[in-house]
Amino acid sequence: MCGIVGYIGQREAEPILVEGLRRLEYRGYDSAGLATLSGAELHLRKQAGRIADLVRHLRDRPAAGCLGISHTRWATHGPATDRNAHPHVAGNGSIAIVHNGVIENYTNLKRQLQADGVVFATDTDTEVIAHLIDQHLQDDLVEAVRQVLPLLKGTYGLAVVSSRQPDVLVGARLGSPLVVGIGADEHLLASDPAALLGHTRNVVYLQDHQMCVLRADGWDLLDANHTRVAAAVQRIDWAPADADKGPYEHYMLKEIYEQPEALENAMRGRLADADASAHFGGLNLNARQLRRAERFVFTACGTSWHAALVGEYLFEELARIPVEVEYASEFRYRNAPMDRNTIVLAITQSGETADTLAALRESKRKGHHTLALCNVVGSTIAREADGGVYLHAGPEIGVASTKAFSNQVCVLAMLALYLGRMGHLSSIQGLRMLKEMRALPNAVRRALGCHDDVRRIAAKYQHVRNMLYLGRQYLFPVALEGALKLKEISYIHAEGYPAAEMKHGPIALVDENTPSVFLINAGGVVDKVLSNLEEIKARGGPVIAIAPEGDDELANQLHDRADDVLFVPQVPEYLQPLVSVAPLQLLAYHMALLRDCDVDKPRNLAKSVTVE
Ligand code: AGP
Repeated sequence: MCGIVGYIGQREAEPILVEGLRRLEYRGYDSAGLATLSGAELHLRKQAGRIADLVRHLRDRPAAGCLGISHTRWATHGPATDRNAHPHVAGNGSIAIVHNGVIENYTNLKRQLQADGVVFATDTDTEVIAHLIDQHLQDDLVEAVRQVLPLLKGTYGLAVVSSRQPDVLVGARLGSPLVVGIGADEHLLASDPAALLGHTRNVVYLQDHQMCVLRADGWDLLDANHTRVAAAVQRIDWAPADADKGPYEHYMLKEIYEQPEALENAMRGRLADADASAHFGGLNLNARQLRRAERFVFTACGTSWHAALVGEYLFEELARIPVEVEYASEFRYRNAPMDRNTIVLAITQSGETADTLAALRESKRKGHHTLALCNVVGSTIAREADGGVYLHAGPEIGVASTKAFSNQVCVLAMLALYLGRMGHLSSIQGLRMLKEMRALPNAVRRALGCHDDVRRIAAKYQHVRNMLYLGRQYLFPVALEGALKLKEISYIHAEGYPAAEMKHGPIALVDENTPSVFLINAGGVVDKVLSNLEEIKARGGPVIAIAPEGDDELANQLHDRADDVLFVPQVPEYLQPLVSVAPLQLLAYHMALLRDCDVDKPRNLAKSVTVE
């Protein structure tokens, strides 16, 4: 949530900051701003609205200088106004700061500062940090920031500049990511490596309690005692084009269509015919330790939590290991009894979700081995887990998660195969699964061929106010995911349920204006789902069925009963979530488009939720 970009070097900072903010706009987009320094003059420009509004403002009032900080905001304290946009200033405009995170004790700090005569110009928690730095600043900005950090309770990723020391950019991190980009005679600071693309691929990730001090010709990393620490410089392997929209109108659509390739990347080098199994480099657990695992707890939020639910079915069916799926926000505060041989697996696209990170840390504290499935390389969760697997989905910019979900499910299926092969799965079964998984990207490619039909269905239902998504077994979590996709980008109220559960309450919602999307399994419960479908039709509810192709009898039954039918390729039941989710993603996309919603930047949301 919120994005930070800072620059110090030989070039004008403004265009670099604006370009970086554009890349981070998906992190928060209710206001934006920047502060640059030319000599000892600080230029502050900020504006409610999108980056485009800031750019218009900069056209009239450019900000000169080769040093600057910038921010795109997702409001936590105070509404999205020009005033509350970052950067915030203190010391008569001599200090500017941008901040991600939440300062939990800001009310107390504000009261103390007000008692000292400080007048506040904004409603934000961040402004207290600016005034505290001003109070502590003698002649060394780095020392002033260092003295202020212990006074702050909560989380921060921050960047500070001062006209009193116009050759240095200071950053600090606690619970909110920051990364330094190392260039030739220039350095950048960002909350997300995507902002650095096109400038450098050499980066250093800050750890909690670390500060960074950037100059045009050098950089230092300091620990809480102000001692210089050695840091590993890493290389980012994403190319700038990965983070562009290409020929697509929206990131979400691009990412939906990238799914077949993303799945290929997730499986690349991990399917092992010789063992009829899958291989992973980074679990950091040997076969003996894994065999001892008696239970897994999967913890995640949002779409990643839905992937975890699919994972529960996969692990229990294929590996015969019990799994519990926990919302990270609940799990972190629960004191659930867990025996020693429980492995905790955090599932997260961003690797920065505050609740998932807290759940992981709590599990580590209790002595559990922790694993993470992450997409963002070098993210906090990826670094803090004892072991893990990268999703290799490539950058996901659209706020609505699509390809990350698919790769999460795919990696969970590979893990289930791997664990299953250590137990009861035969090599014949393992080889069959490898073959089925290799065929998956093409099946998803074909599933995406339903684009035009989906657009037609979306046009038919674009004005509805409620929708139901119903599925059973492996397709129940997909129903939840379809409903989440629809509500987050089209603002239509939608609920996902296990198909049989709707009789226990939600069926009361059914009328001619409440369509139900039925996800039909190819497996054993198909007749049961068809009965559930009849129950909806009997009450006048329109039905959109998504069903596997190739079964004439099923097709005839559906053509008789459903208002619209979309066929997806026939795949084994455990892989059905991956072909069935594609039309649901497209349906949400087209409904949102037809309703004139901002698909990539839905209201009130941000890509990665780094506050509680
Ligand atoms: C999904 O479309 C979301 N925008 C959201 O639910 C997301 O999946 C959730 O915030 C978890 O994010 P993570 O995977 O980065 O941890």
